[in-house]
Order: sequence, then C-alpha cells, then structure tokens
Amino acid sequence: MKKQLLTEYELFEDASEMNAEDAQLLQEARSHTDLSYAPYSKFHVAAAARLDNGKIVFGANQENASYPVGICAERTLLSAISSQYPQQKVLTMAVSYKNELGDSLHPISPCGICRQTLTEYEQRWQHPIRIILSGQEGKIFVLESAKDLMPLSFSADDMK
Ligand code: THU
Repeated sequence: MKKQLLTEYELFEDASEMNAEDAQLLQEARSHTDLSYAPYSKFHVAAAARLDNGKIVFGANQENASYPVGICAERTLLSAISSQYPQQKVLTMAVSYKNELGDSLHPISPCGICRQTLTEYEQRWQHPIRIILSGQEGKIFVLESAKDLMPLSFSADDMK
C-alpha cells in the first residue's frame, strides 16, 4: 500500500498581502540580518519570533572557524528564548536572509537540525509554531506548524 504525505503552506506574492502582524514580523527578520556572524559562508540569516506576551525577539546565525560549530539563526533564537523567557512560547517565527554572494529573493527553509529542534519546542510548549519564510523581497511561504516541515519526525512519544 502506498501512502502520501501532504504539506500545505500559504503563498503570498508580497508582504502587502499578509495580515499586519505577520508582515511586521517578517520585516523584523528581513531587517535584522546584520545580527548574523557569517564571515565564512557570507550568508546572513535572521529569525524573528513573536512570543505569546507579544514581544518580538531576534536570533541570527553564528559561525565558527571550525565550521560544524556554527549555529543557525533558528536555533540561536529558540535557545535564547528558552533561556531568557522560560515562561513564554513562540507563536510565530519569521526567517529571512541576506546573501553577500548572490541574491536574497527566494524563501529559504530551515535545515534538518532546526526542523527537529522546532518540533521539540512545539511538543514542549504544546503549541504550534507558525513559520514565515522569505528573502529580502518576493514570495513568502507561511506554514501553520513546524511539524509541516518535518513529516514522520522522531519525538519523545516514540520512546514511550
Ligand atoms: N543557516 C541558517 O542560519 N538558517 C537556515 O535556515 C539555513 C542556513 C545558516 C547556517 C550557516 O551559517 C549559513 O546559513 C550557510 O549555510
């Protein structure tokens, strides 16, 4: 028997089509790529999260001369939130980037390790994290949950 997994996301041609809260969060991610430390890849990624108290918090990728030590924007942000705002959960996270070596016009999507991390936080907070993905301009993808990026993911439930 063959089974199919379906991923749904919303596509916007432009931020002007989005609701004001999402457009603001995306703008925050787009304008905070300078928080990135990416002297090796020159690929500056920023994430902005809206917490359930309404606060907006930022994270950016932090690279290292020993390349695997580097950490992505999404995980930098989740660790910061979990440490500094332990009572809060993330309602929505926007991710954008600036590529010094090319264009920054299409959405990028979190890497596998970040997807696994995002789904762990969804479980921990018992709340979906909406994800907004876009470059400095152009198309925008919106997913209702990080789980949509990580079908058949491994979680604590598998160890019960
Ligand atoms: N990166 C992120 O921070 N988030 C993503 O979603 C994709 C990739 C970073 C890791 C590395 O510092 C640089 O982008 C190039 O891979």
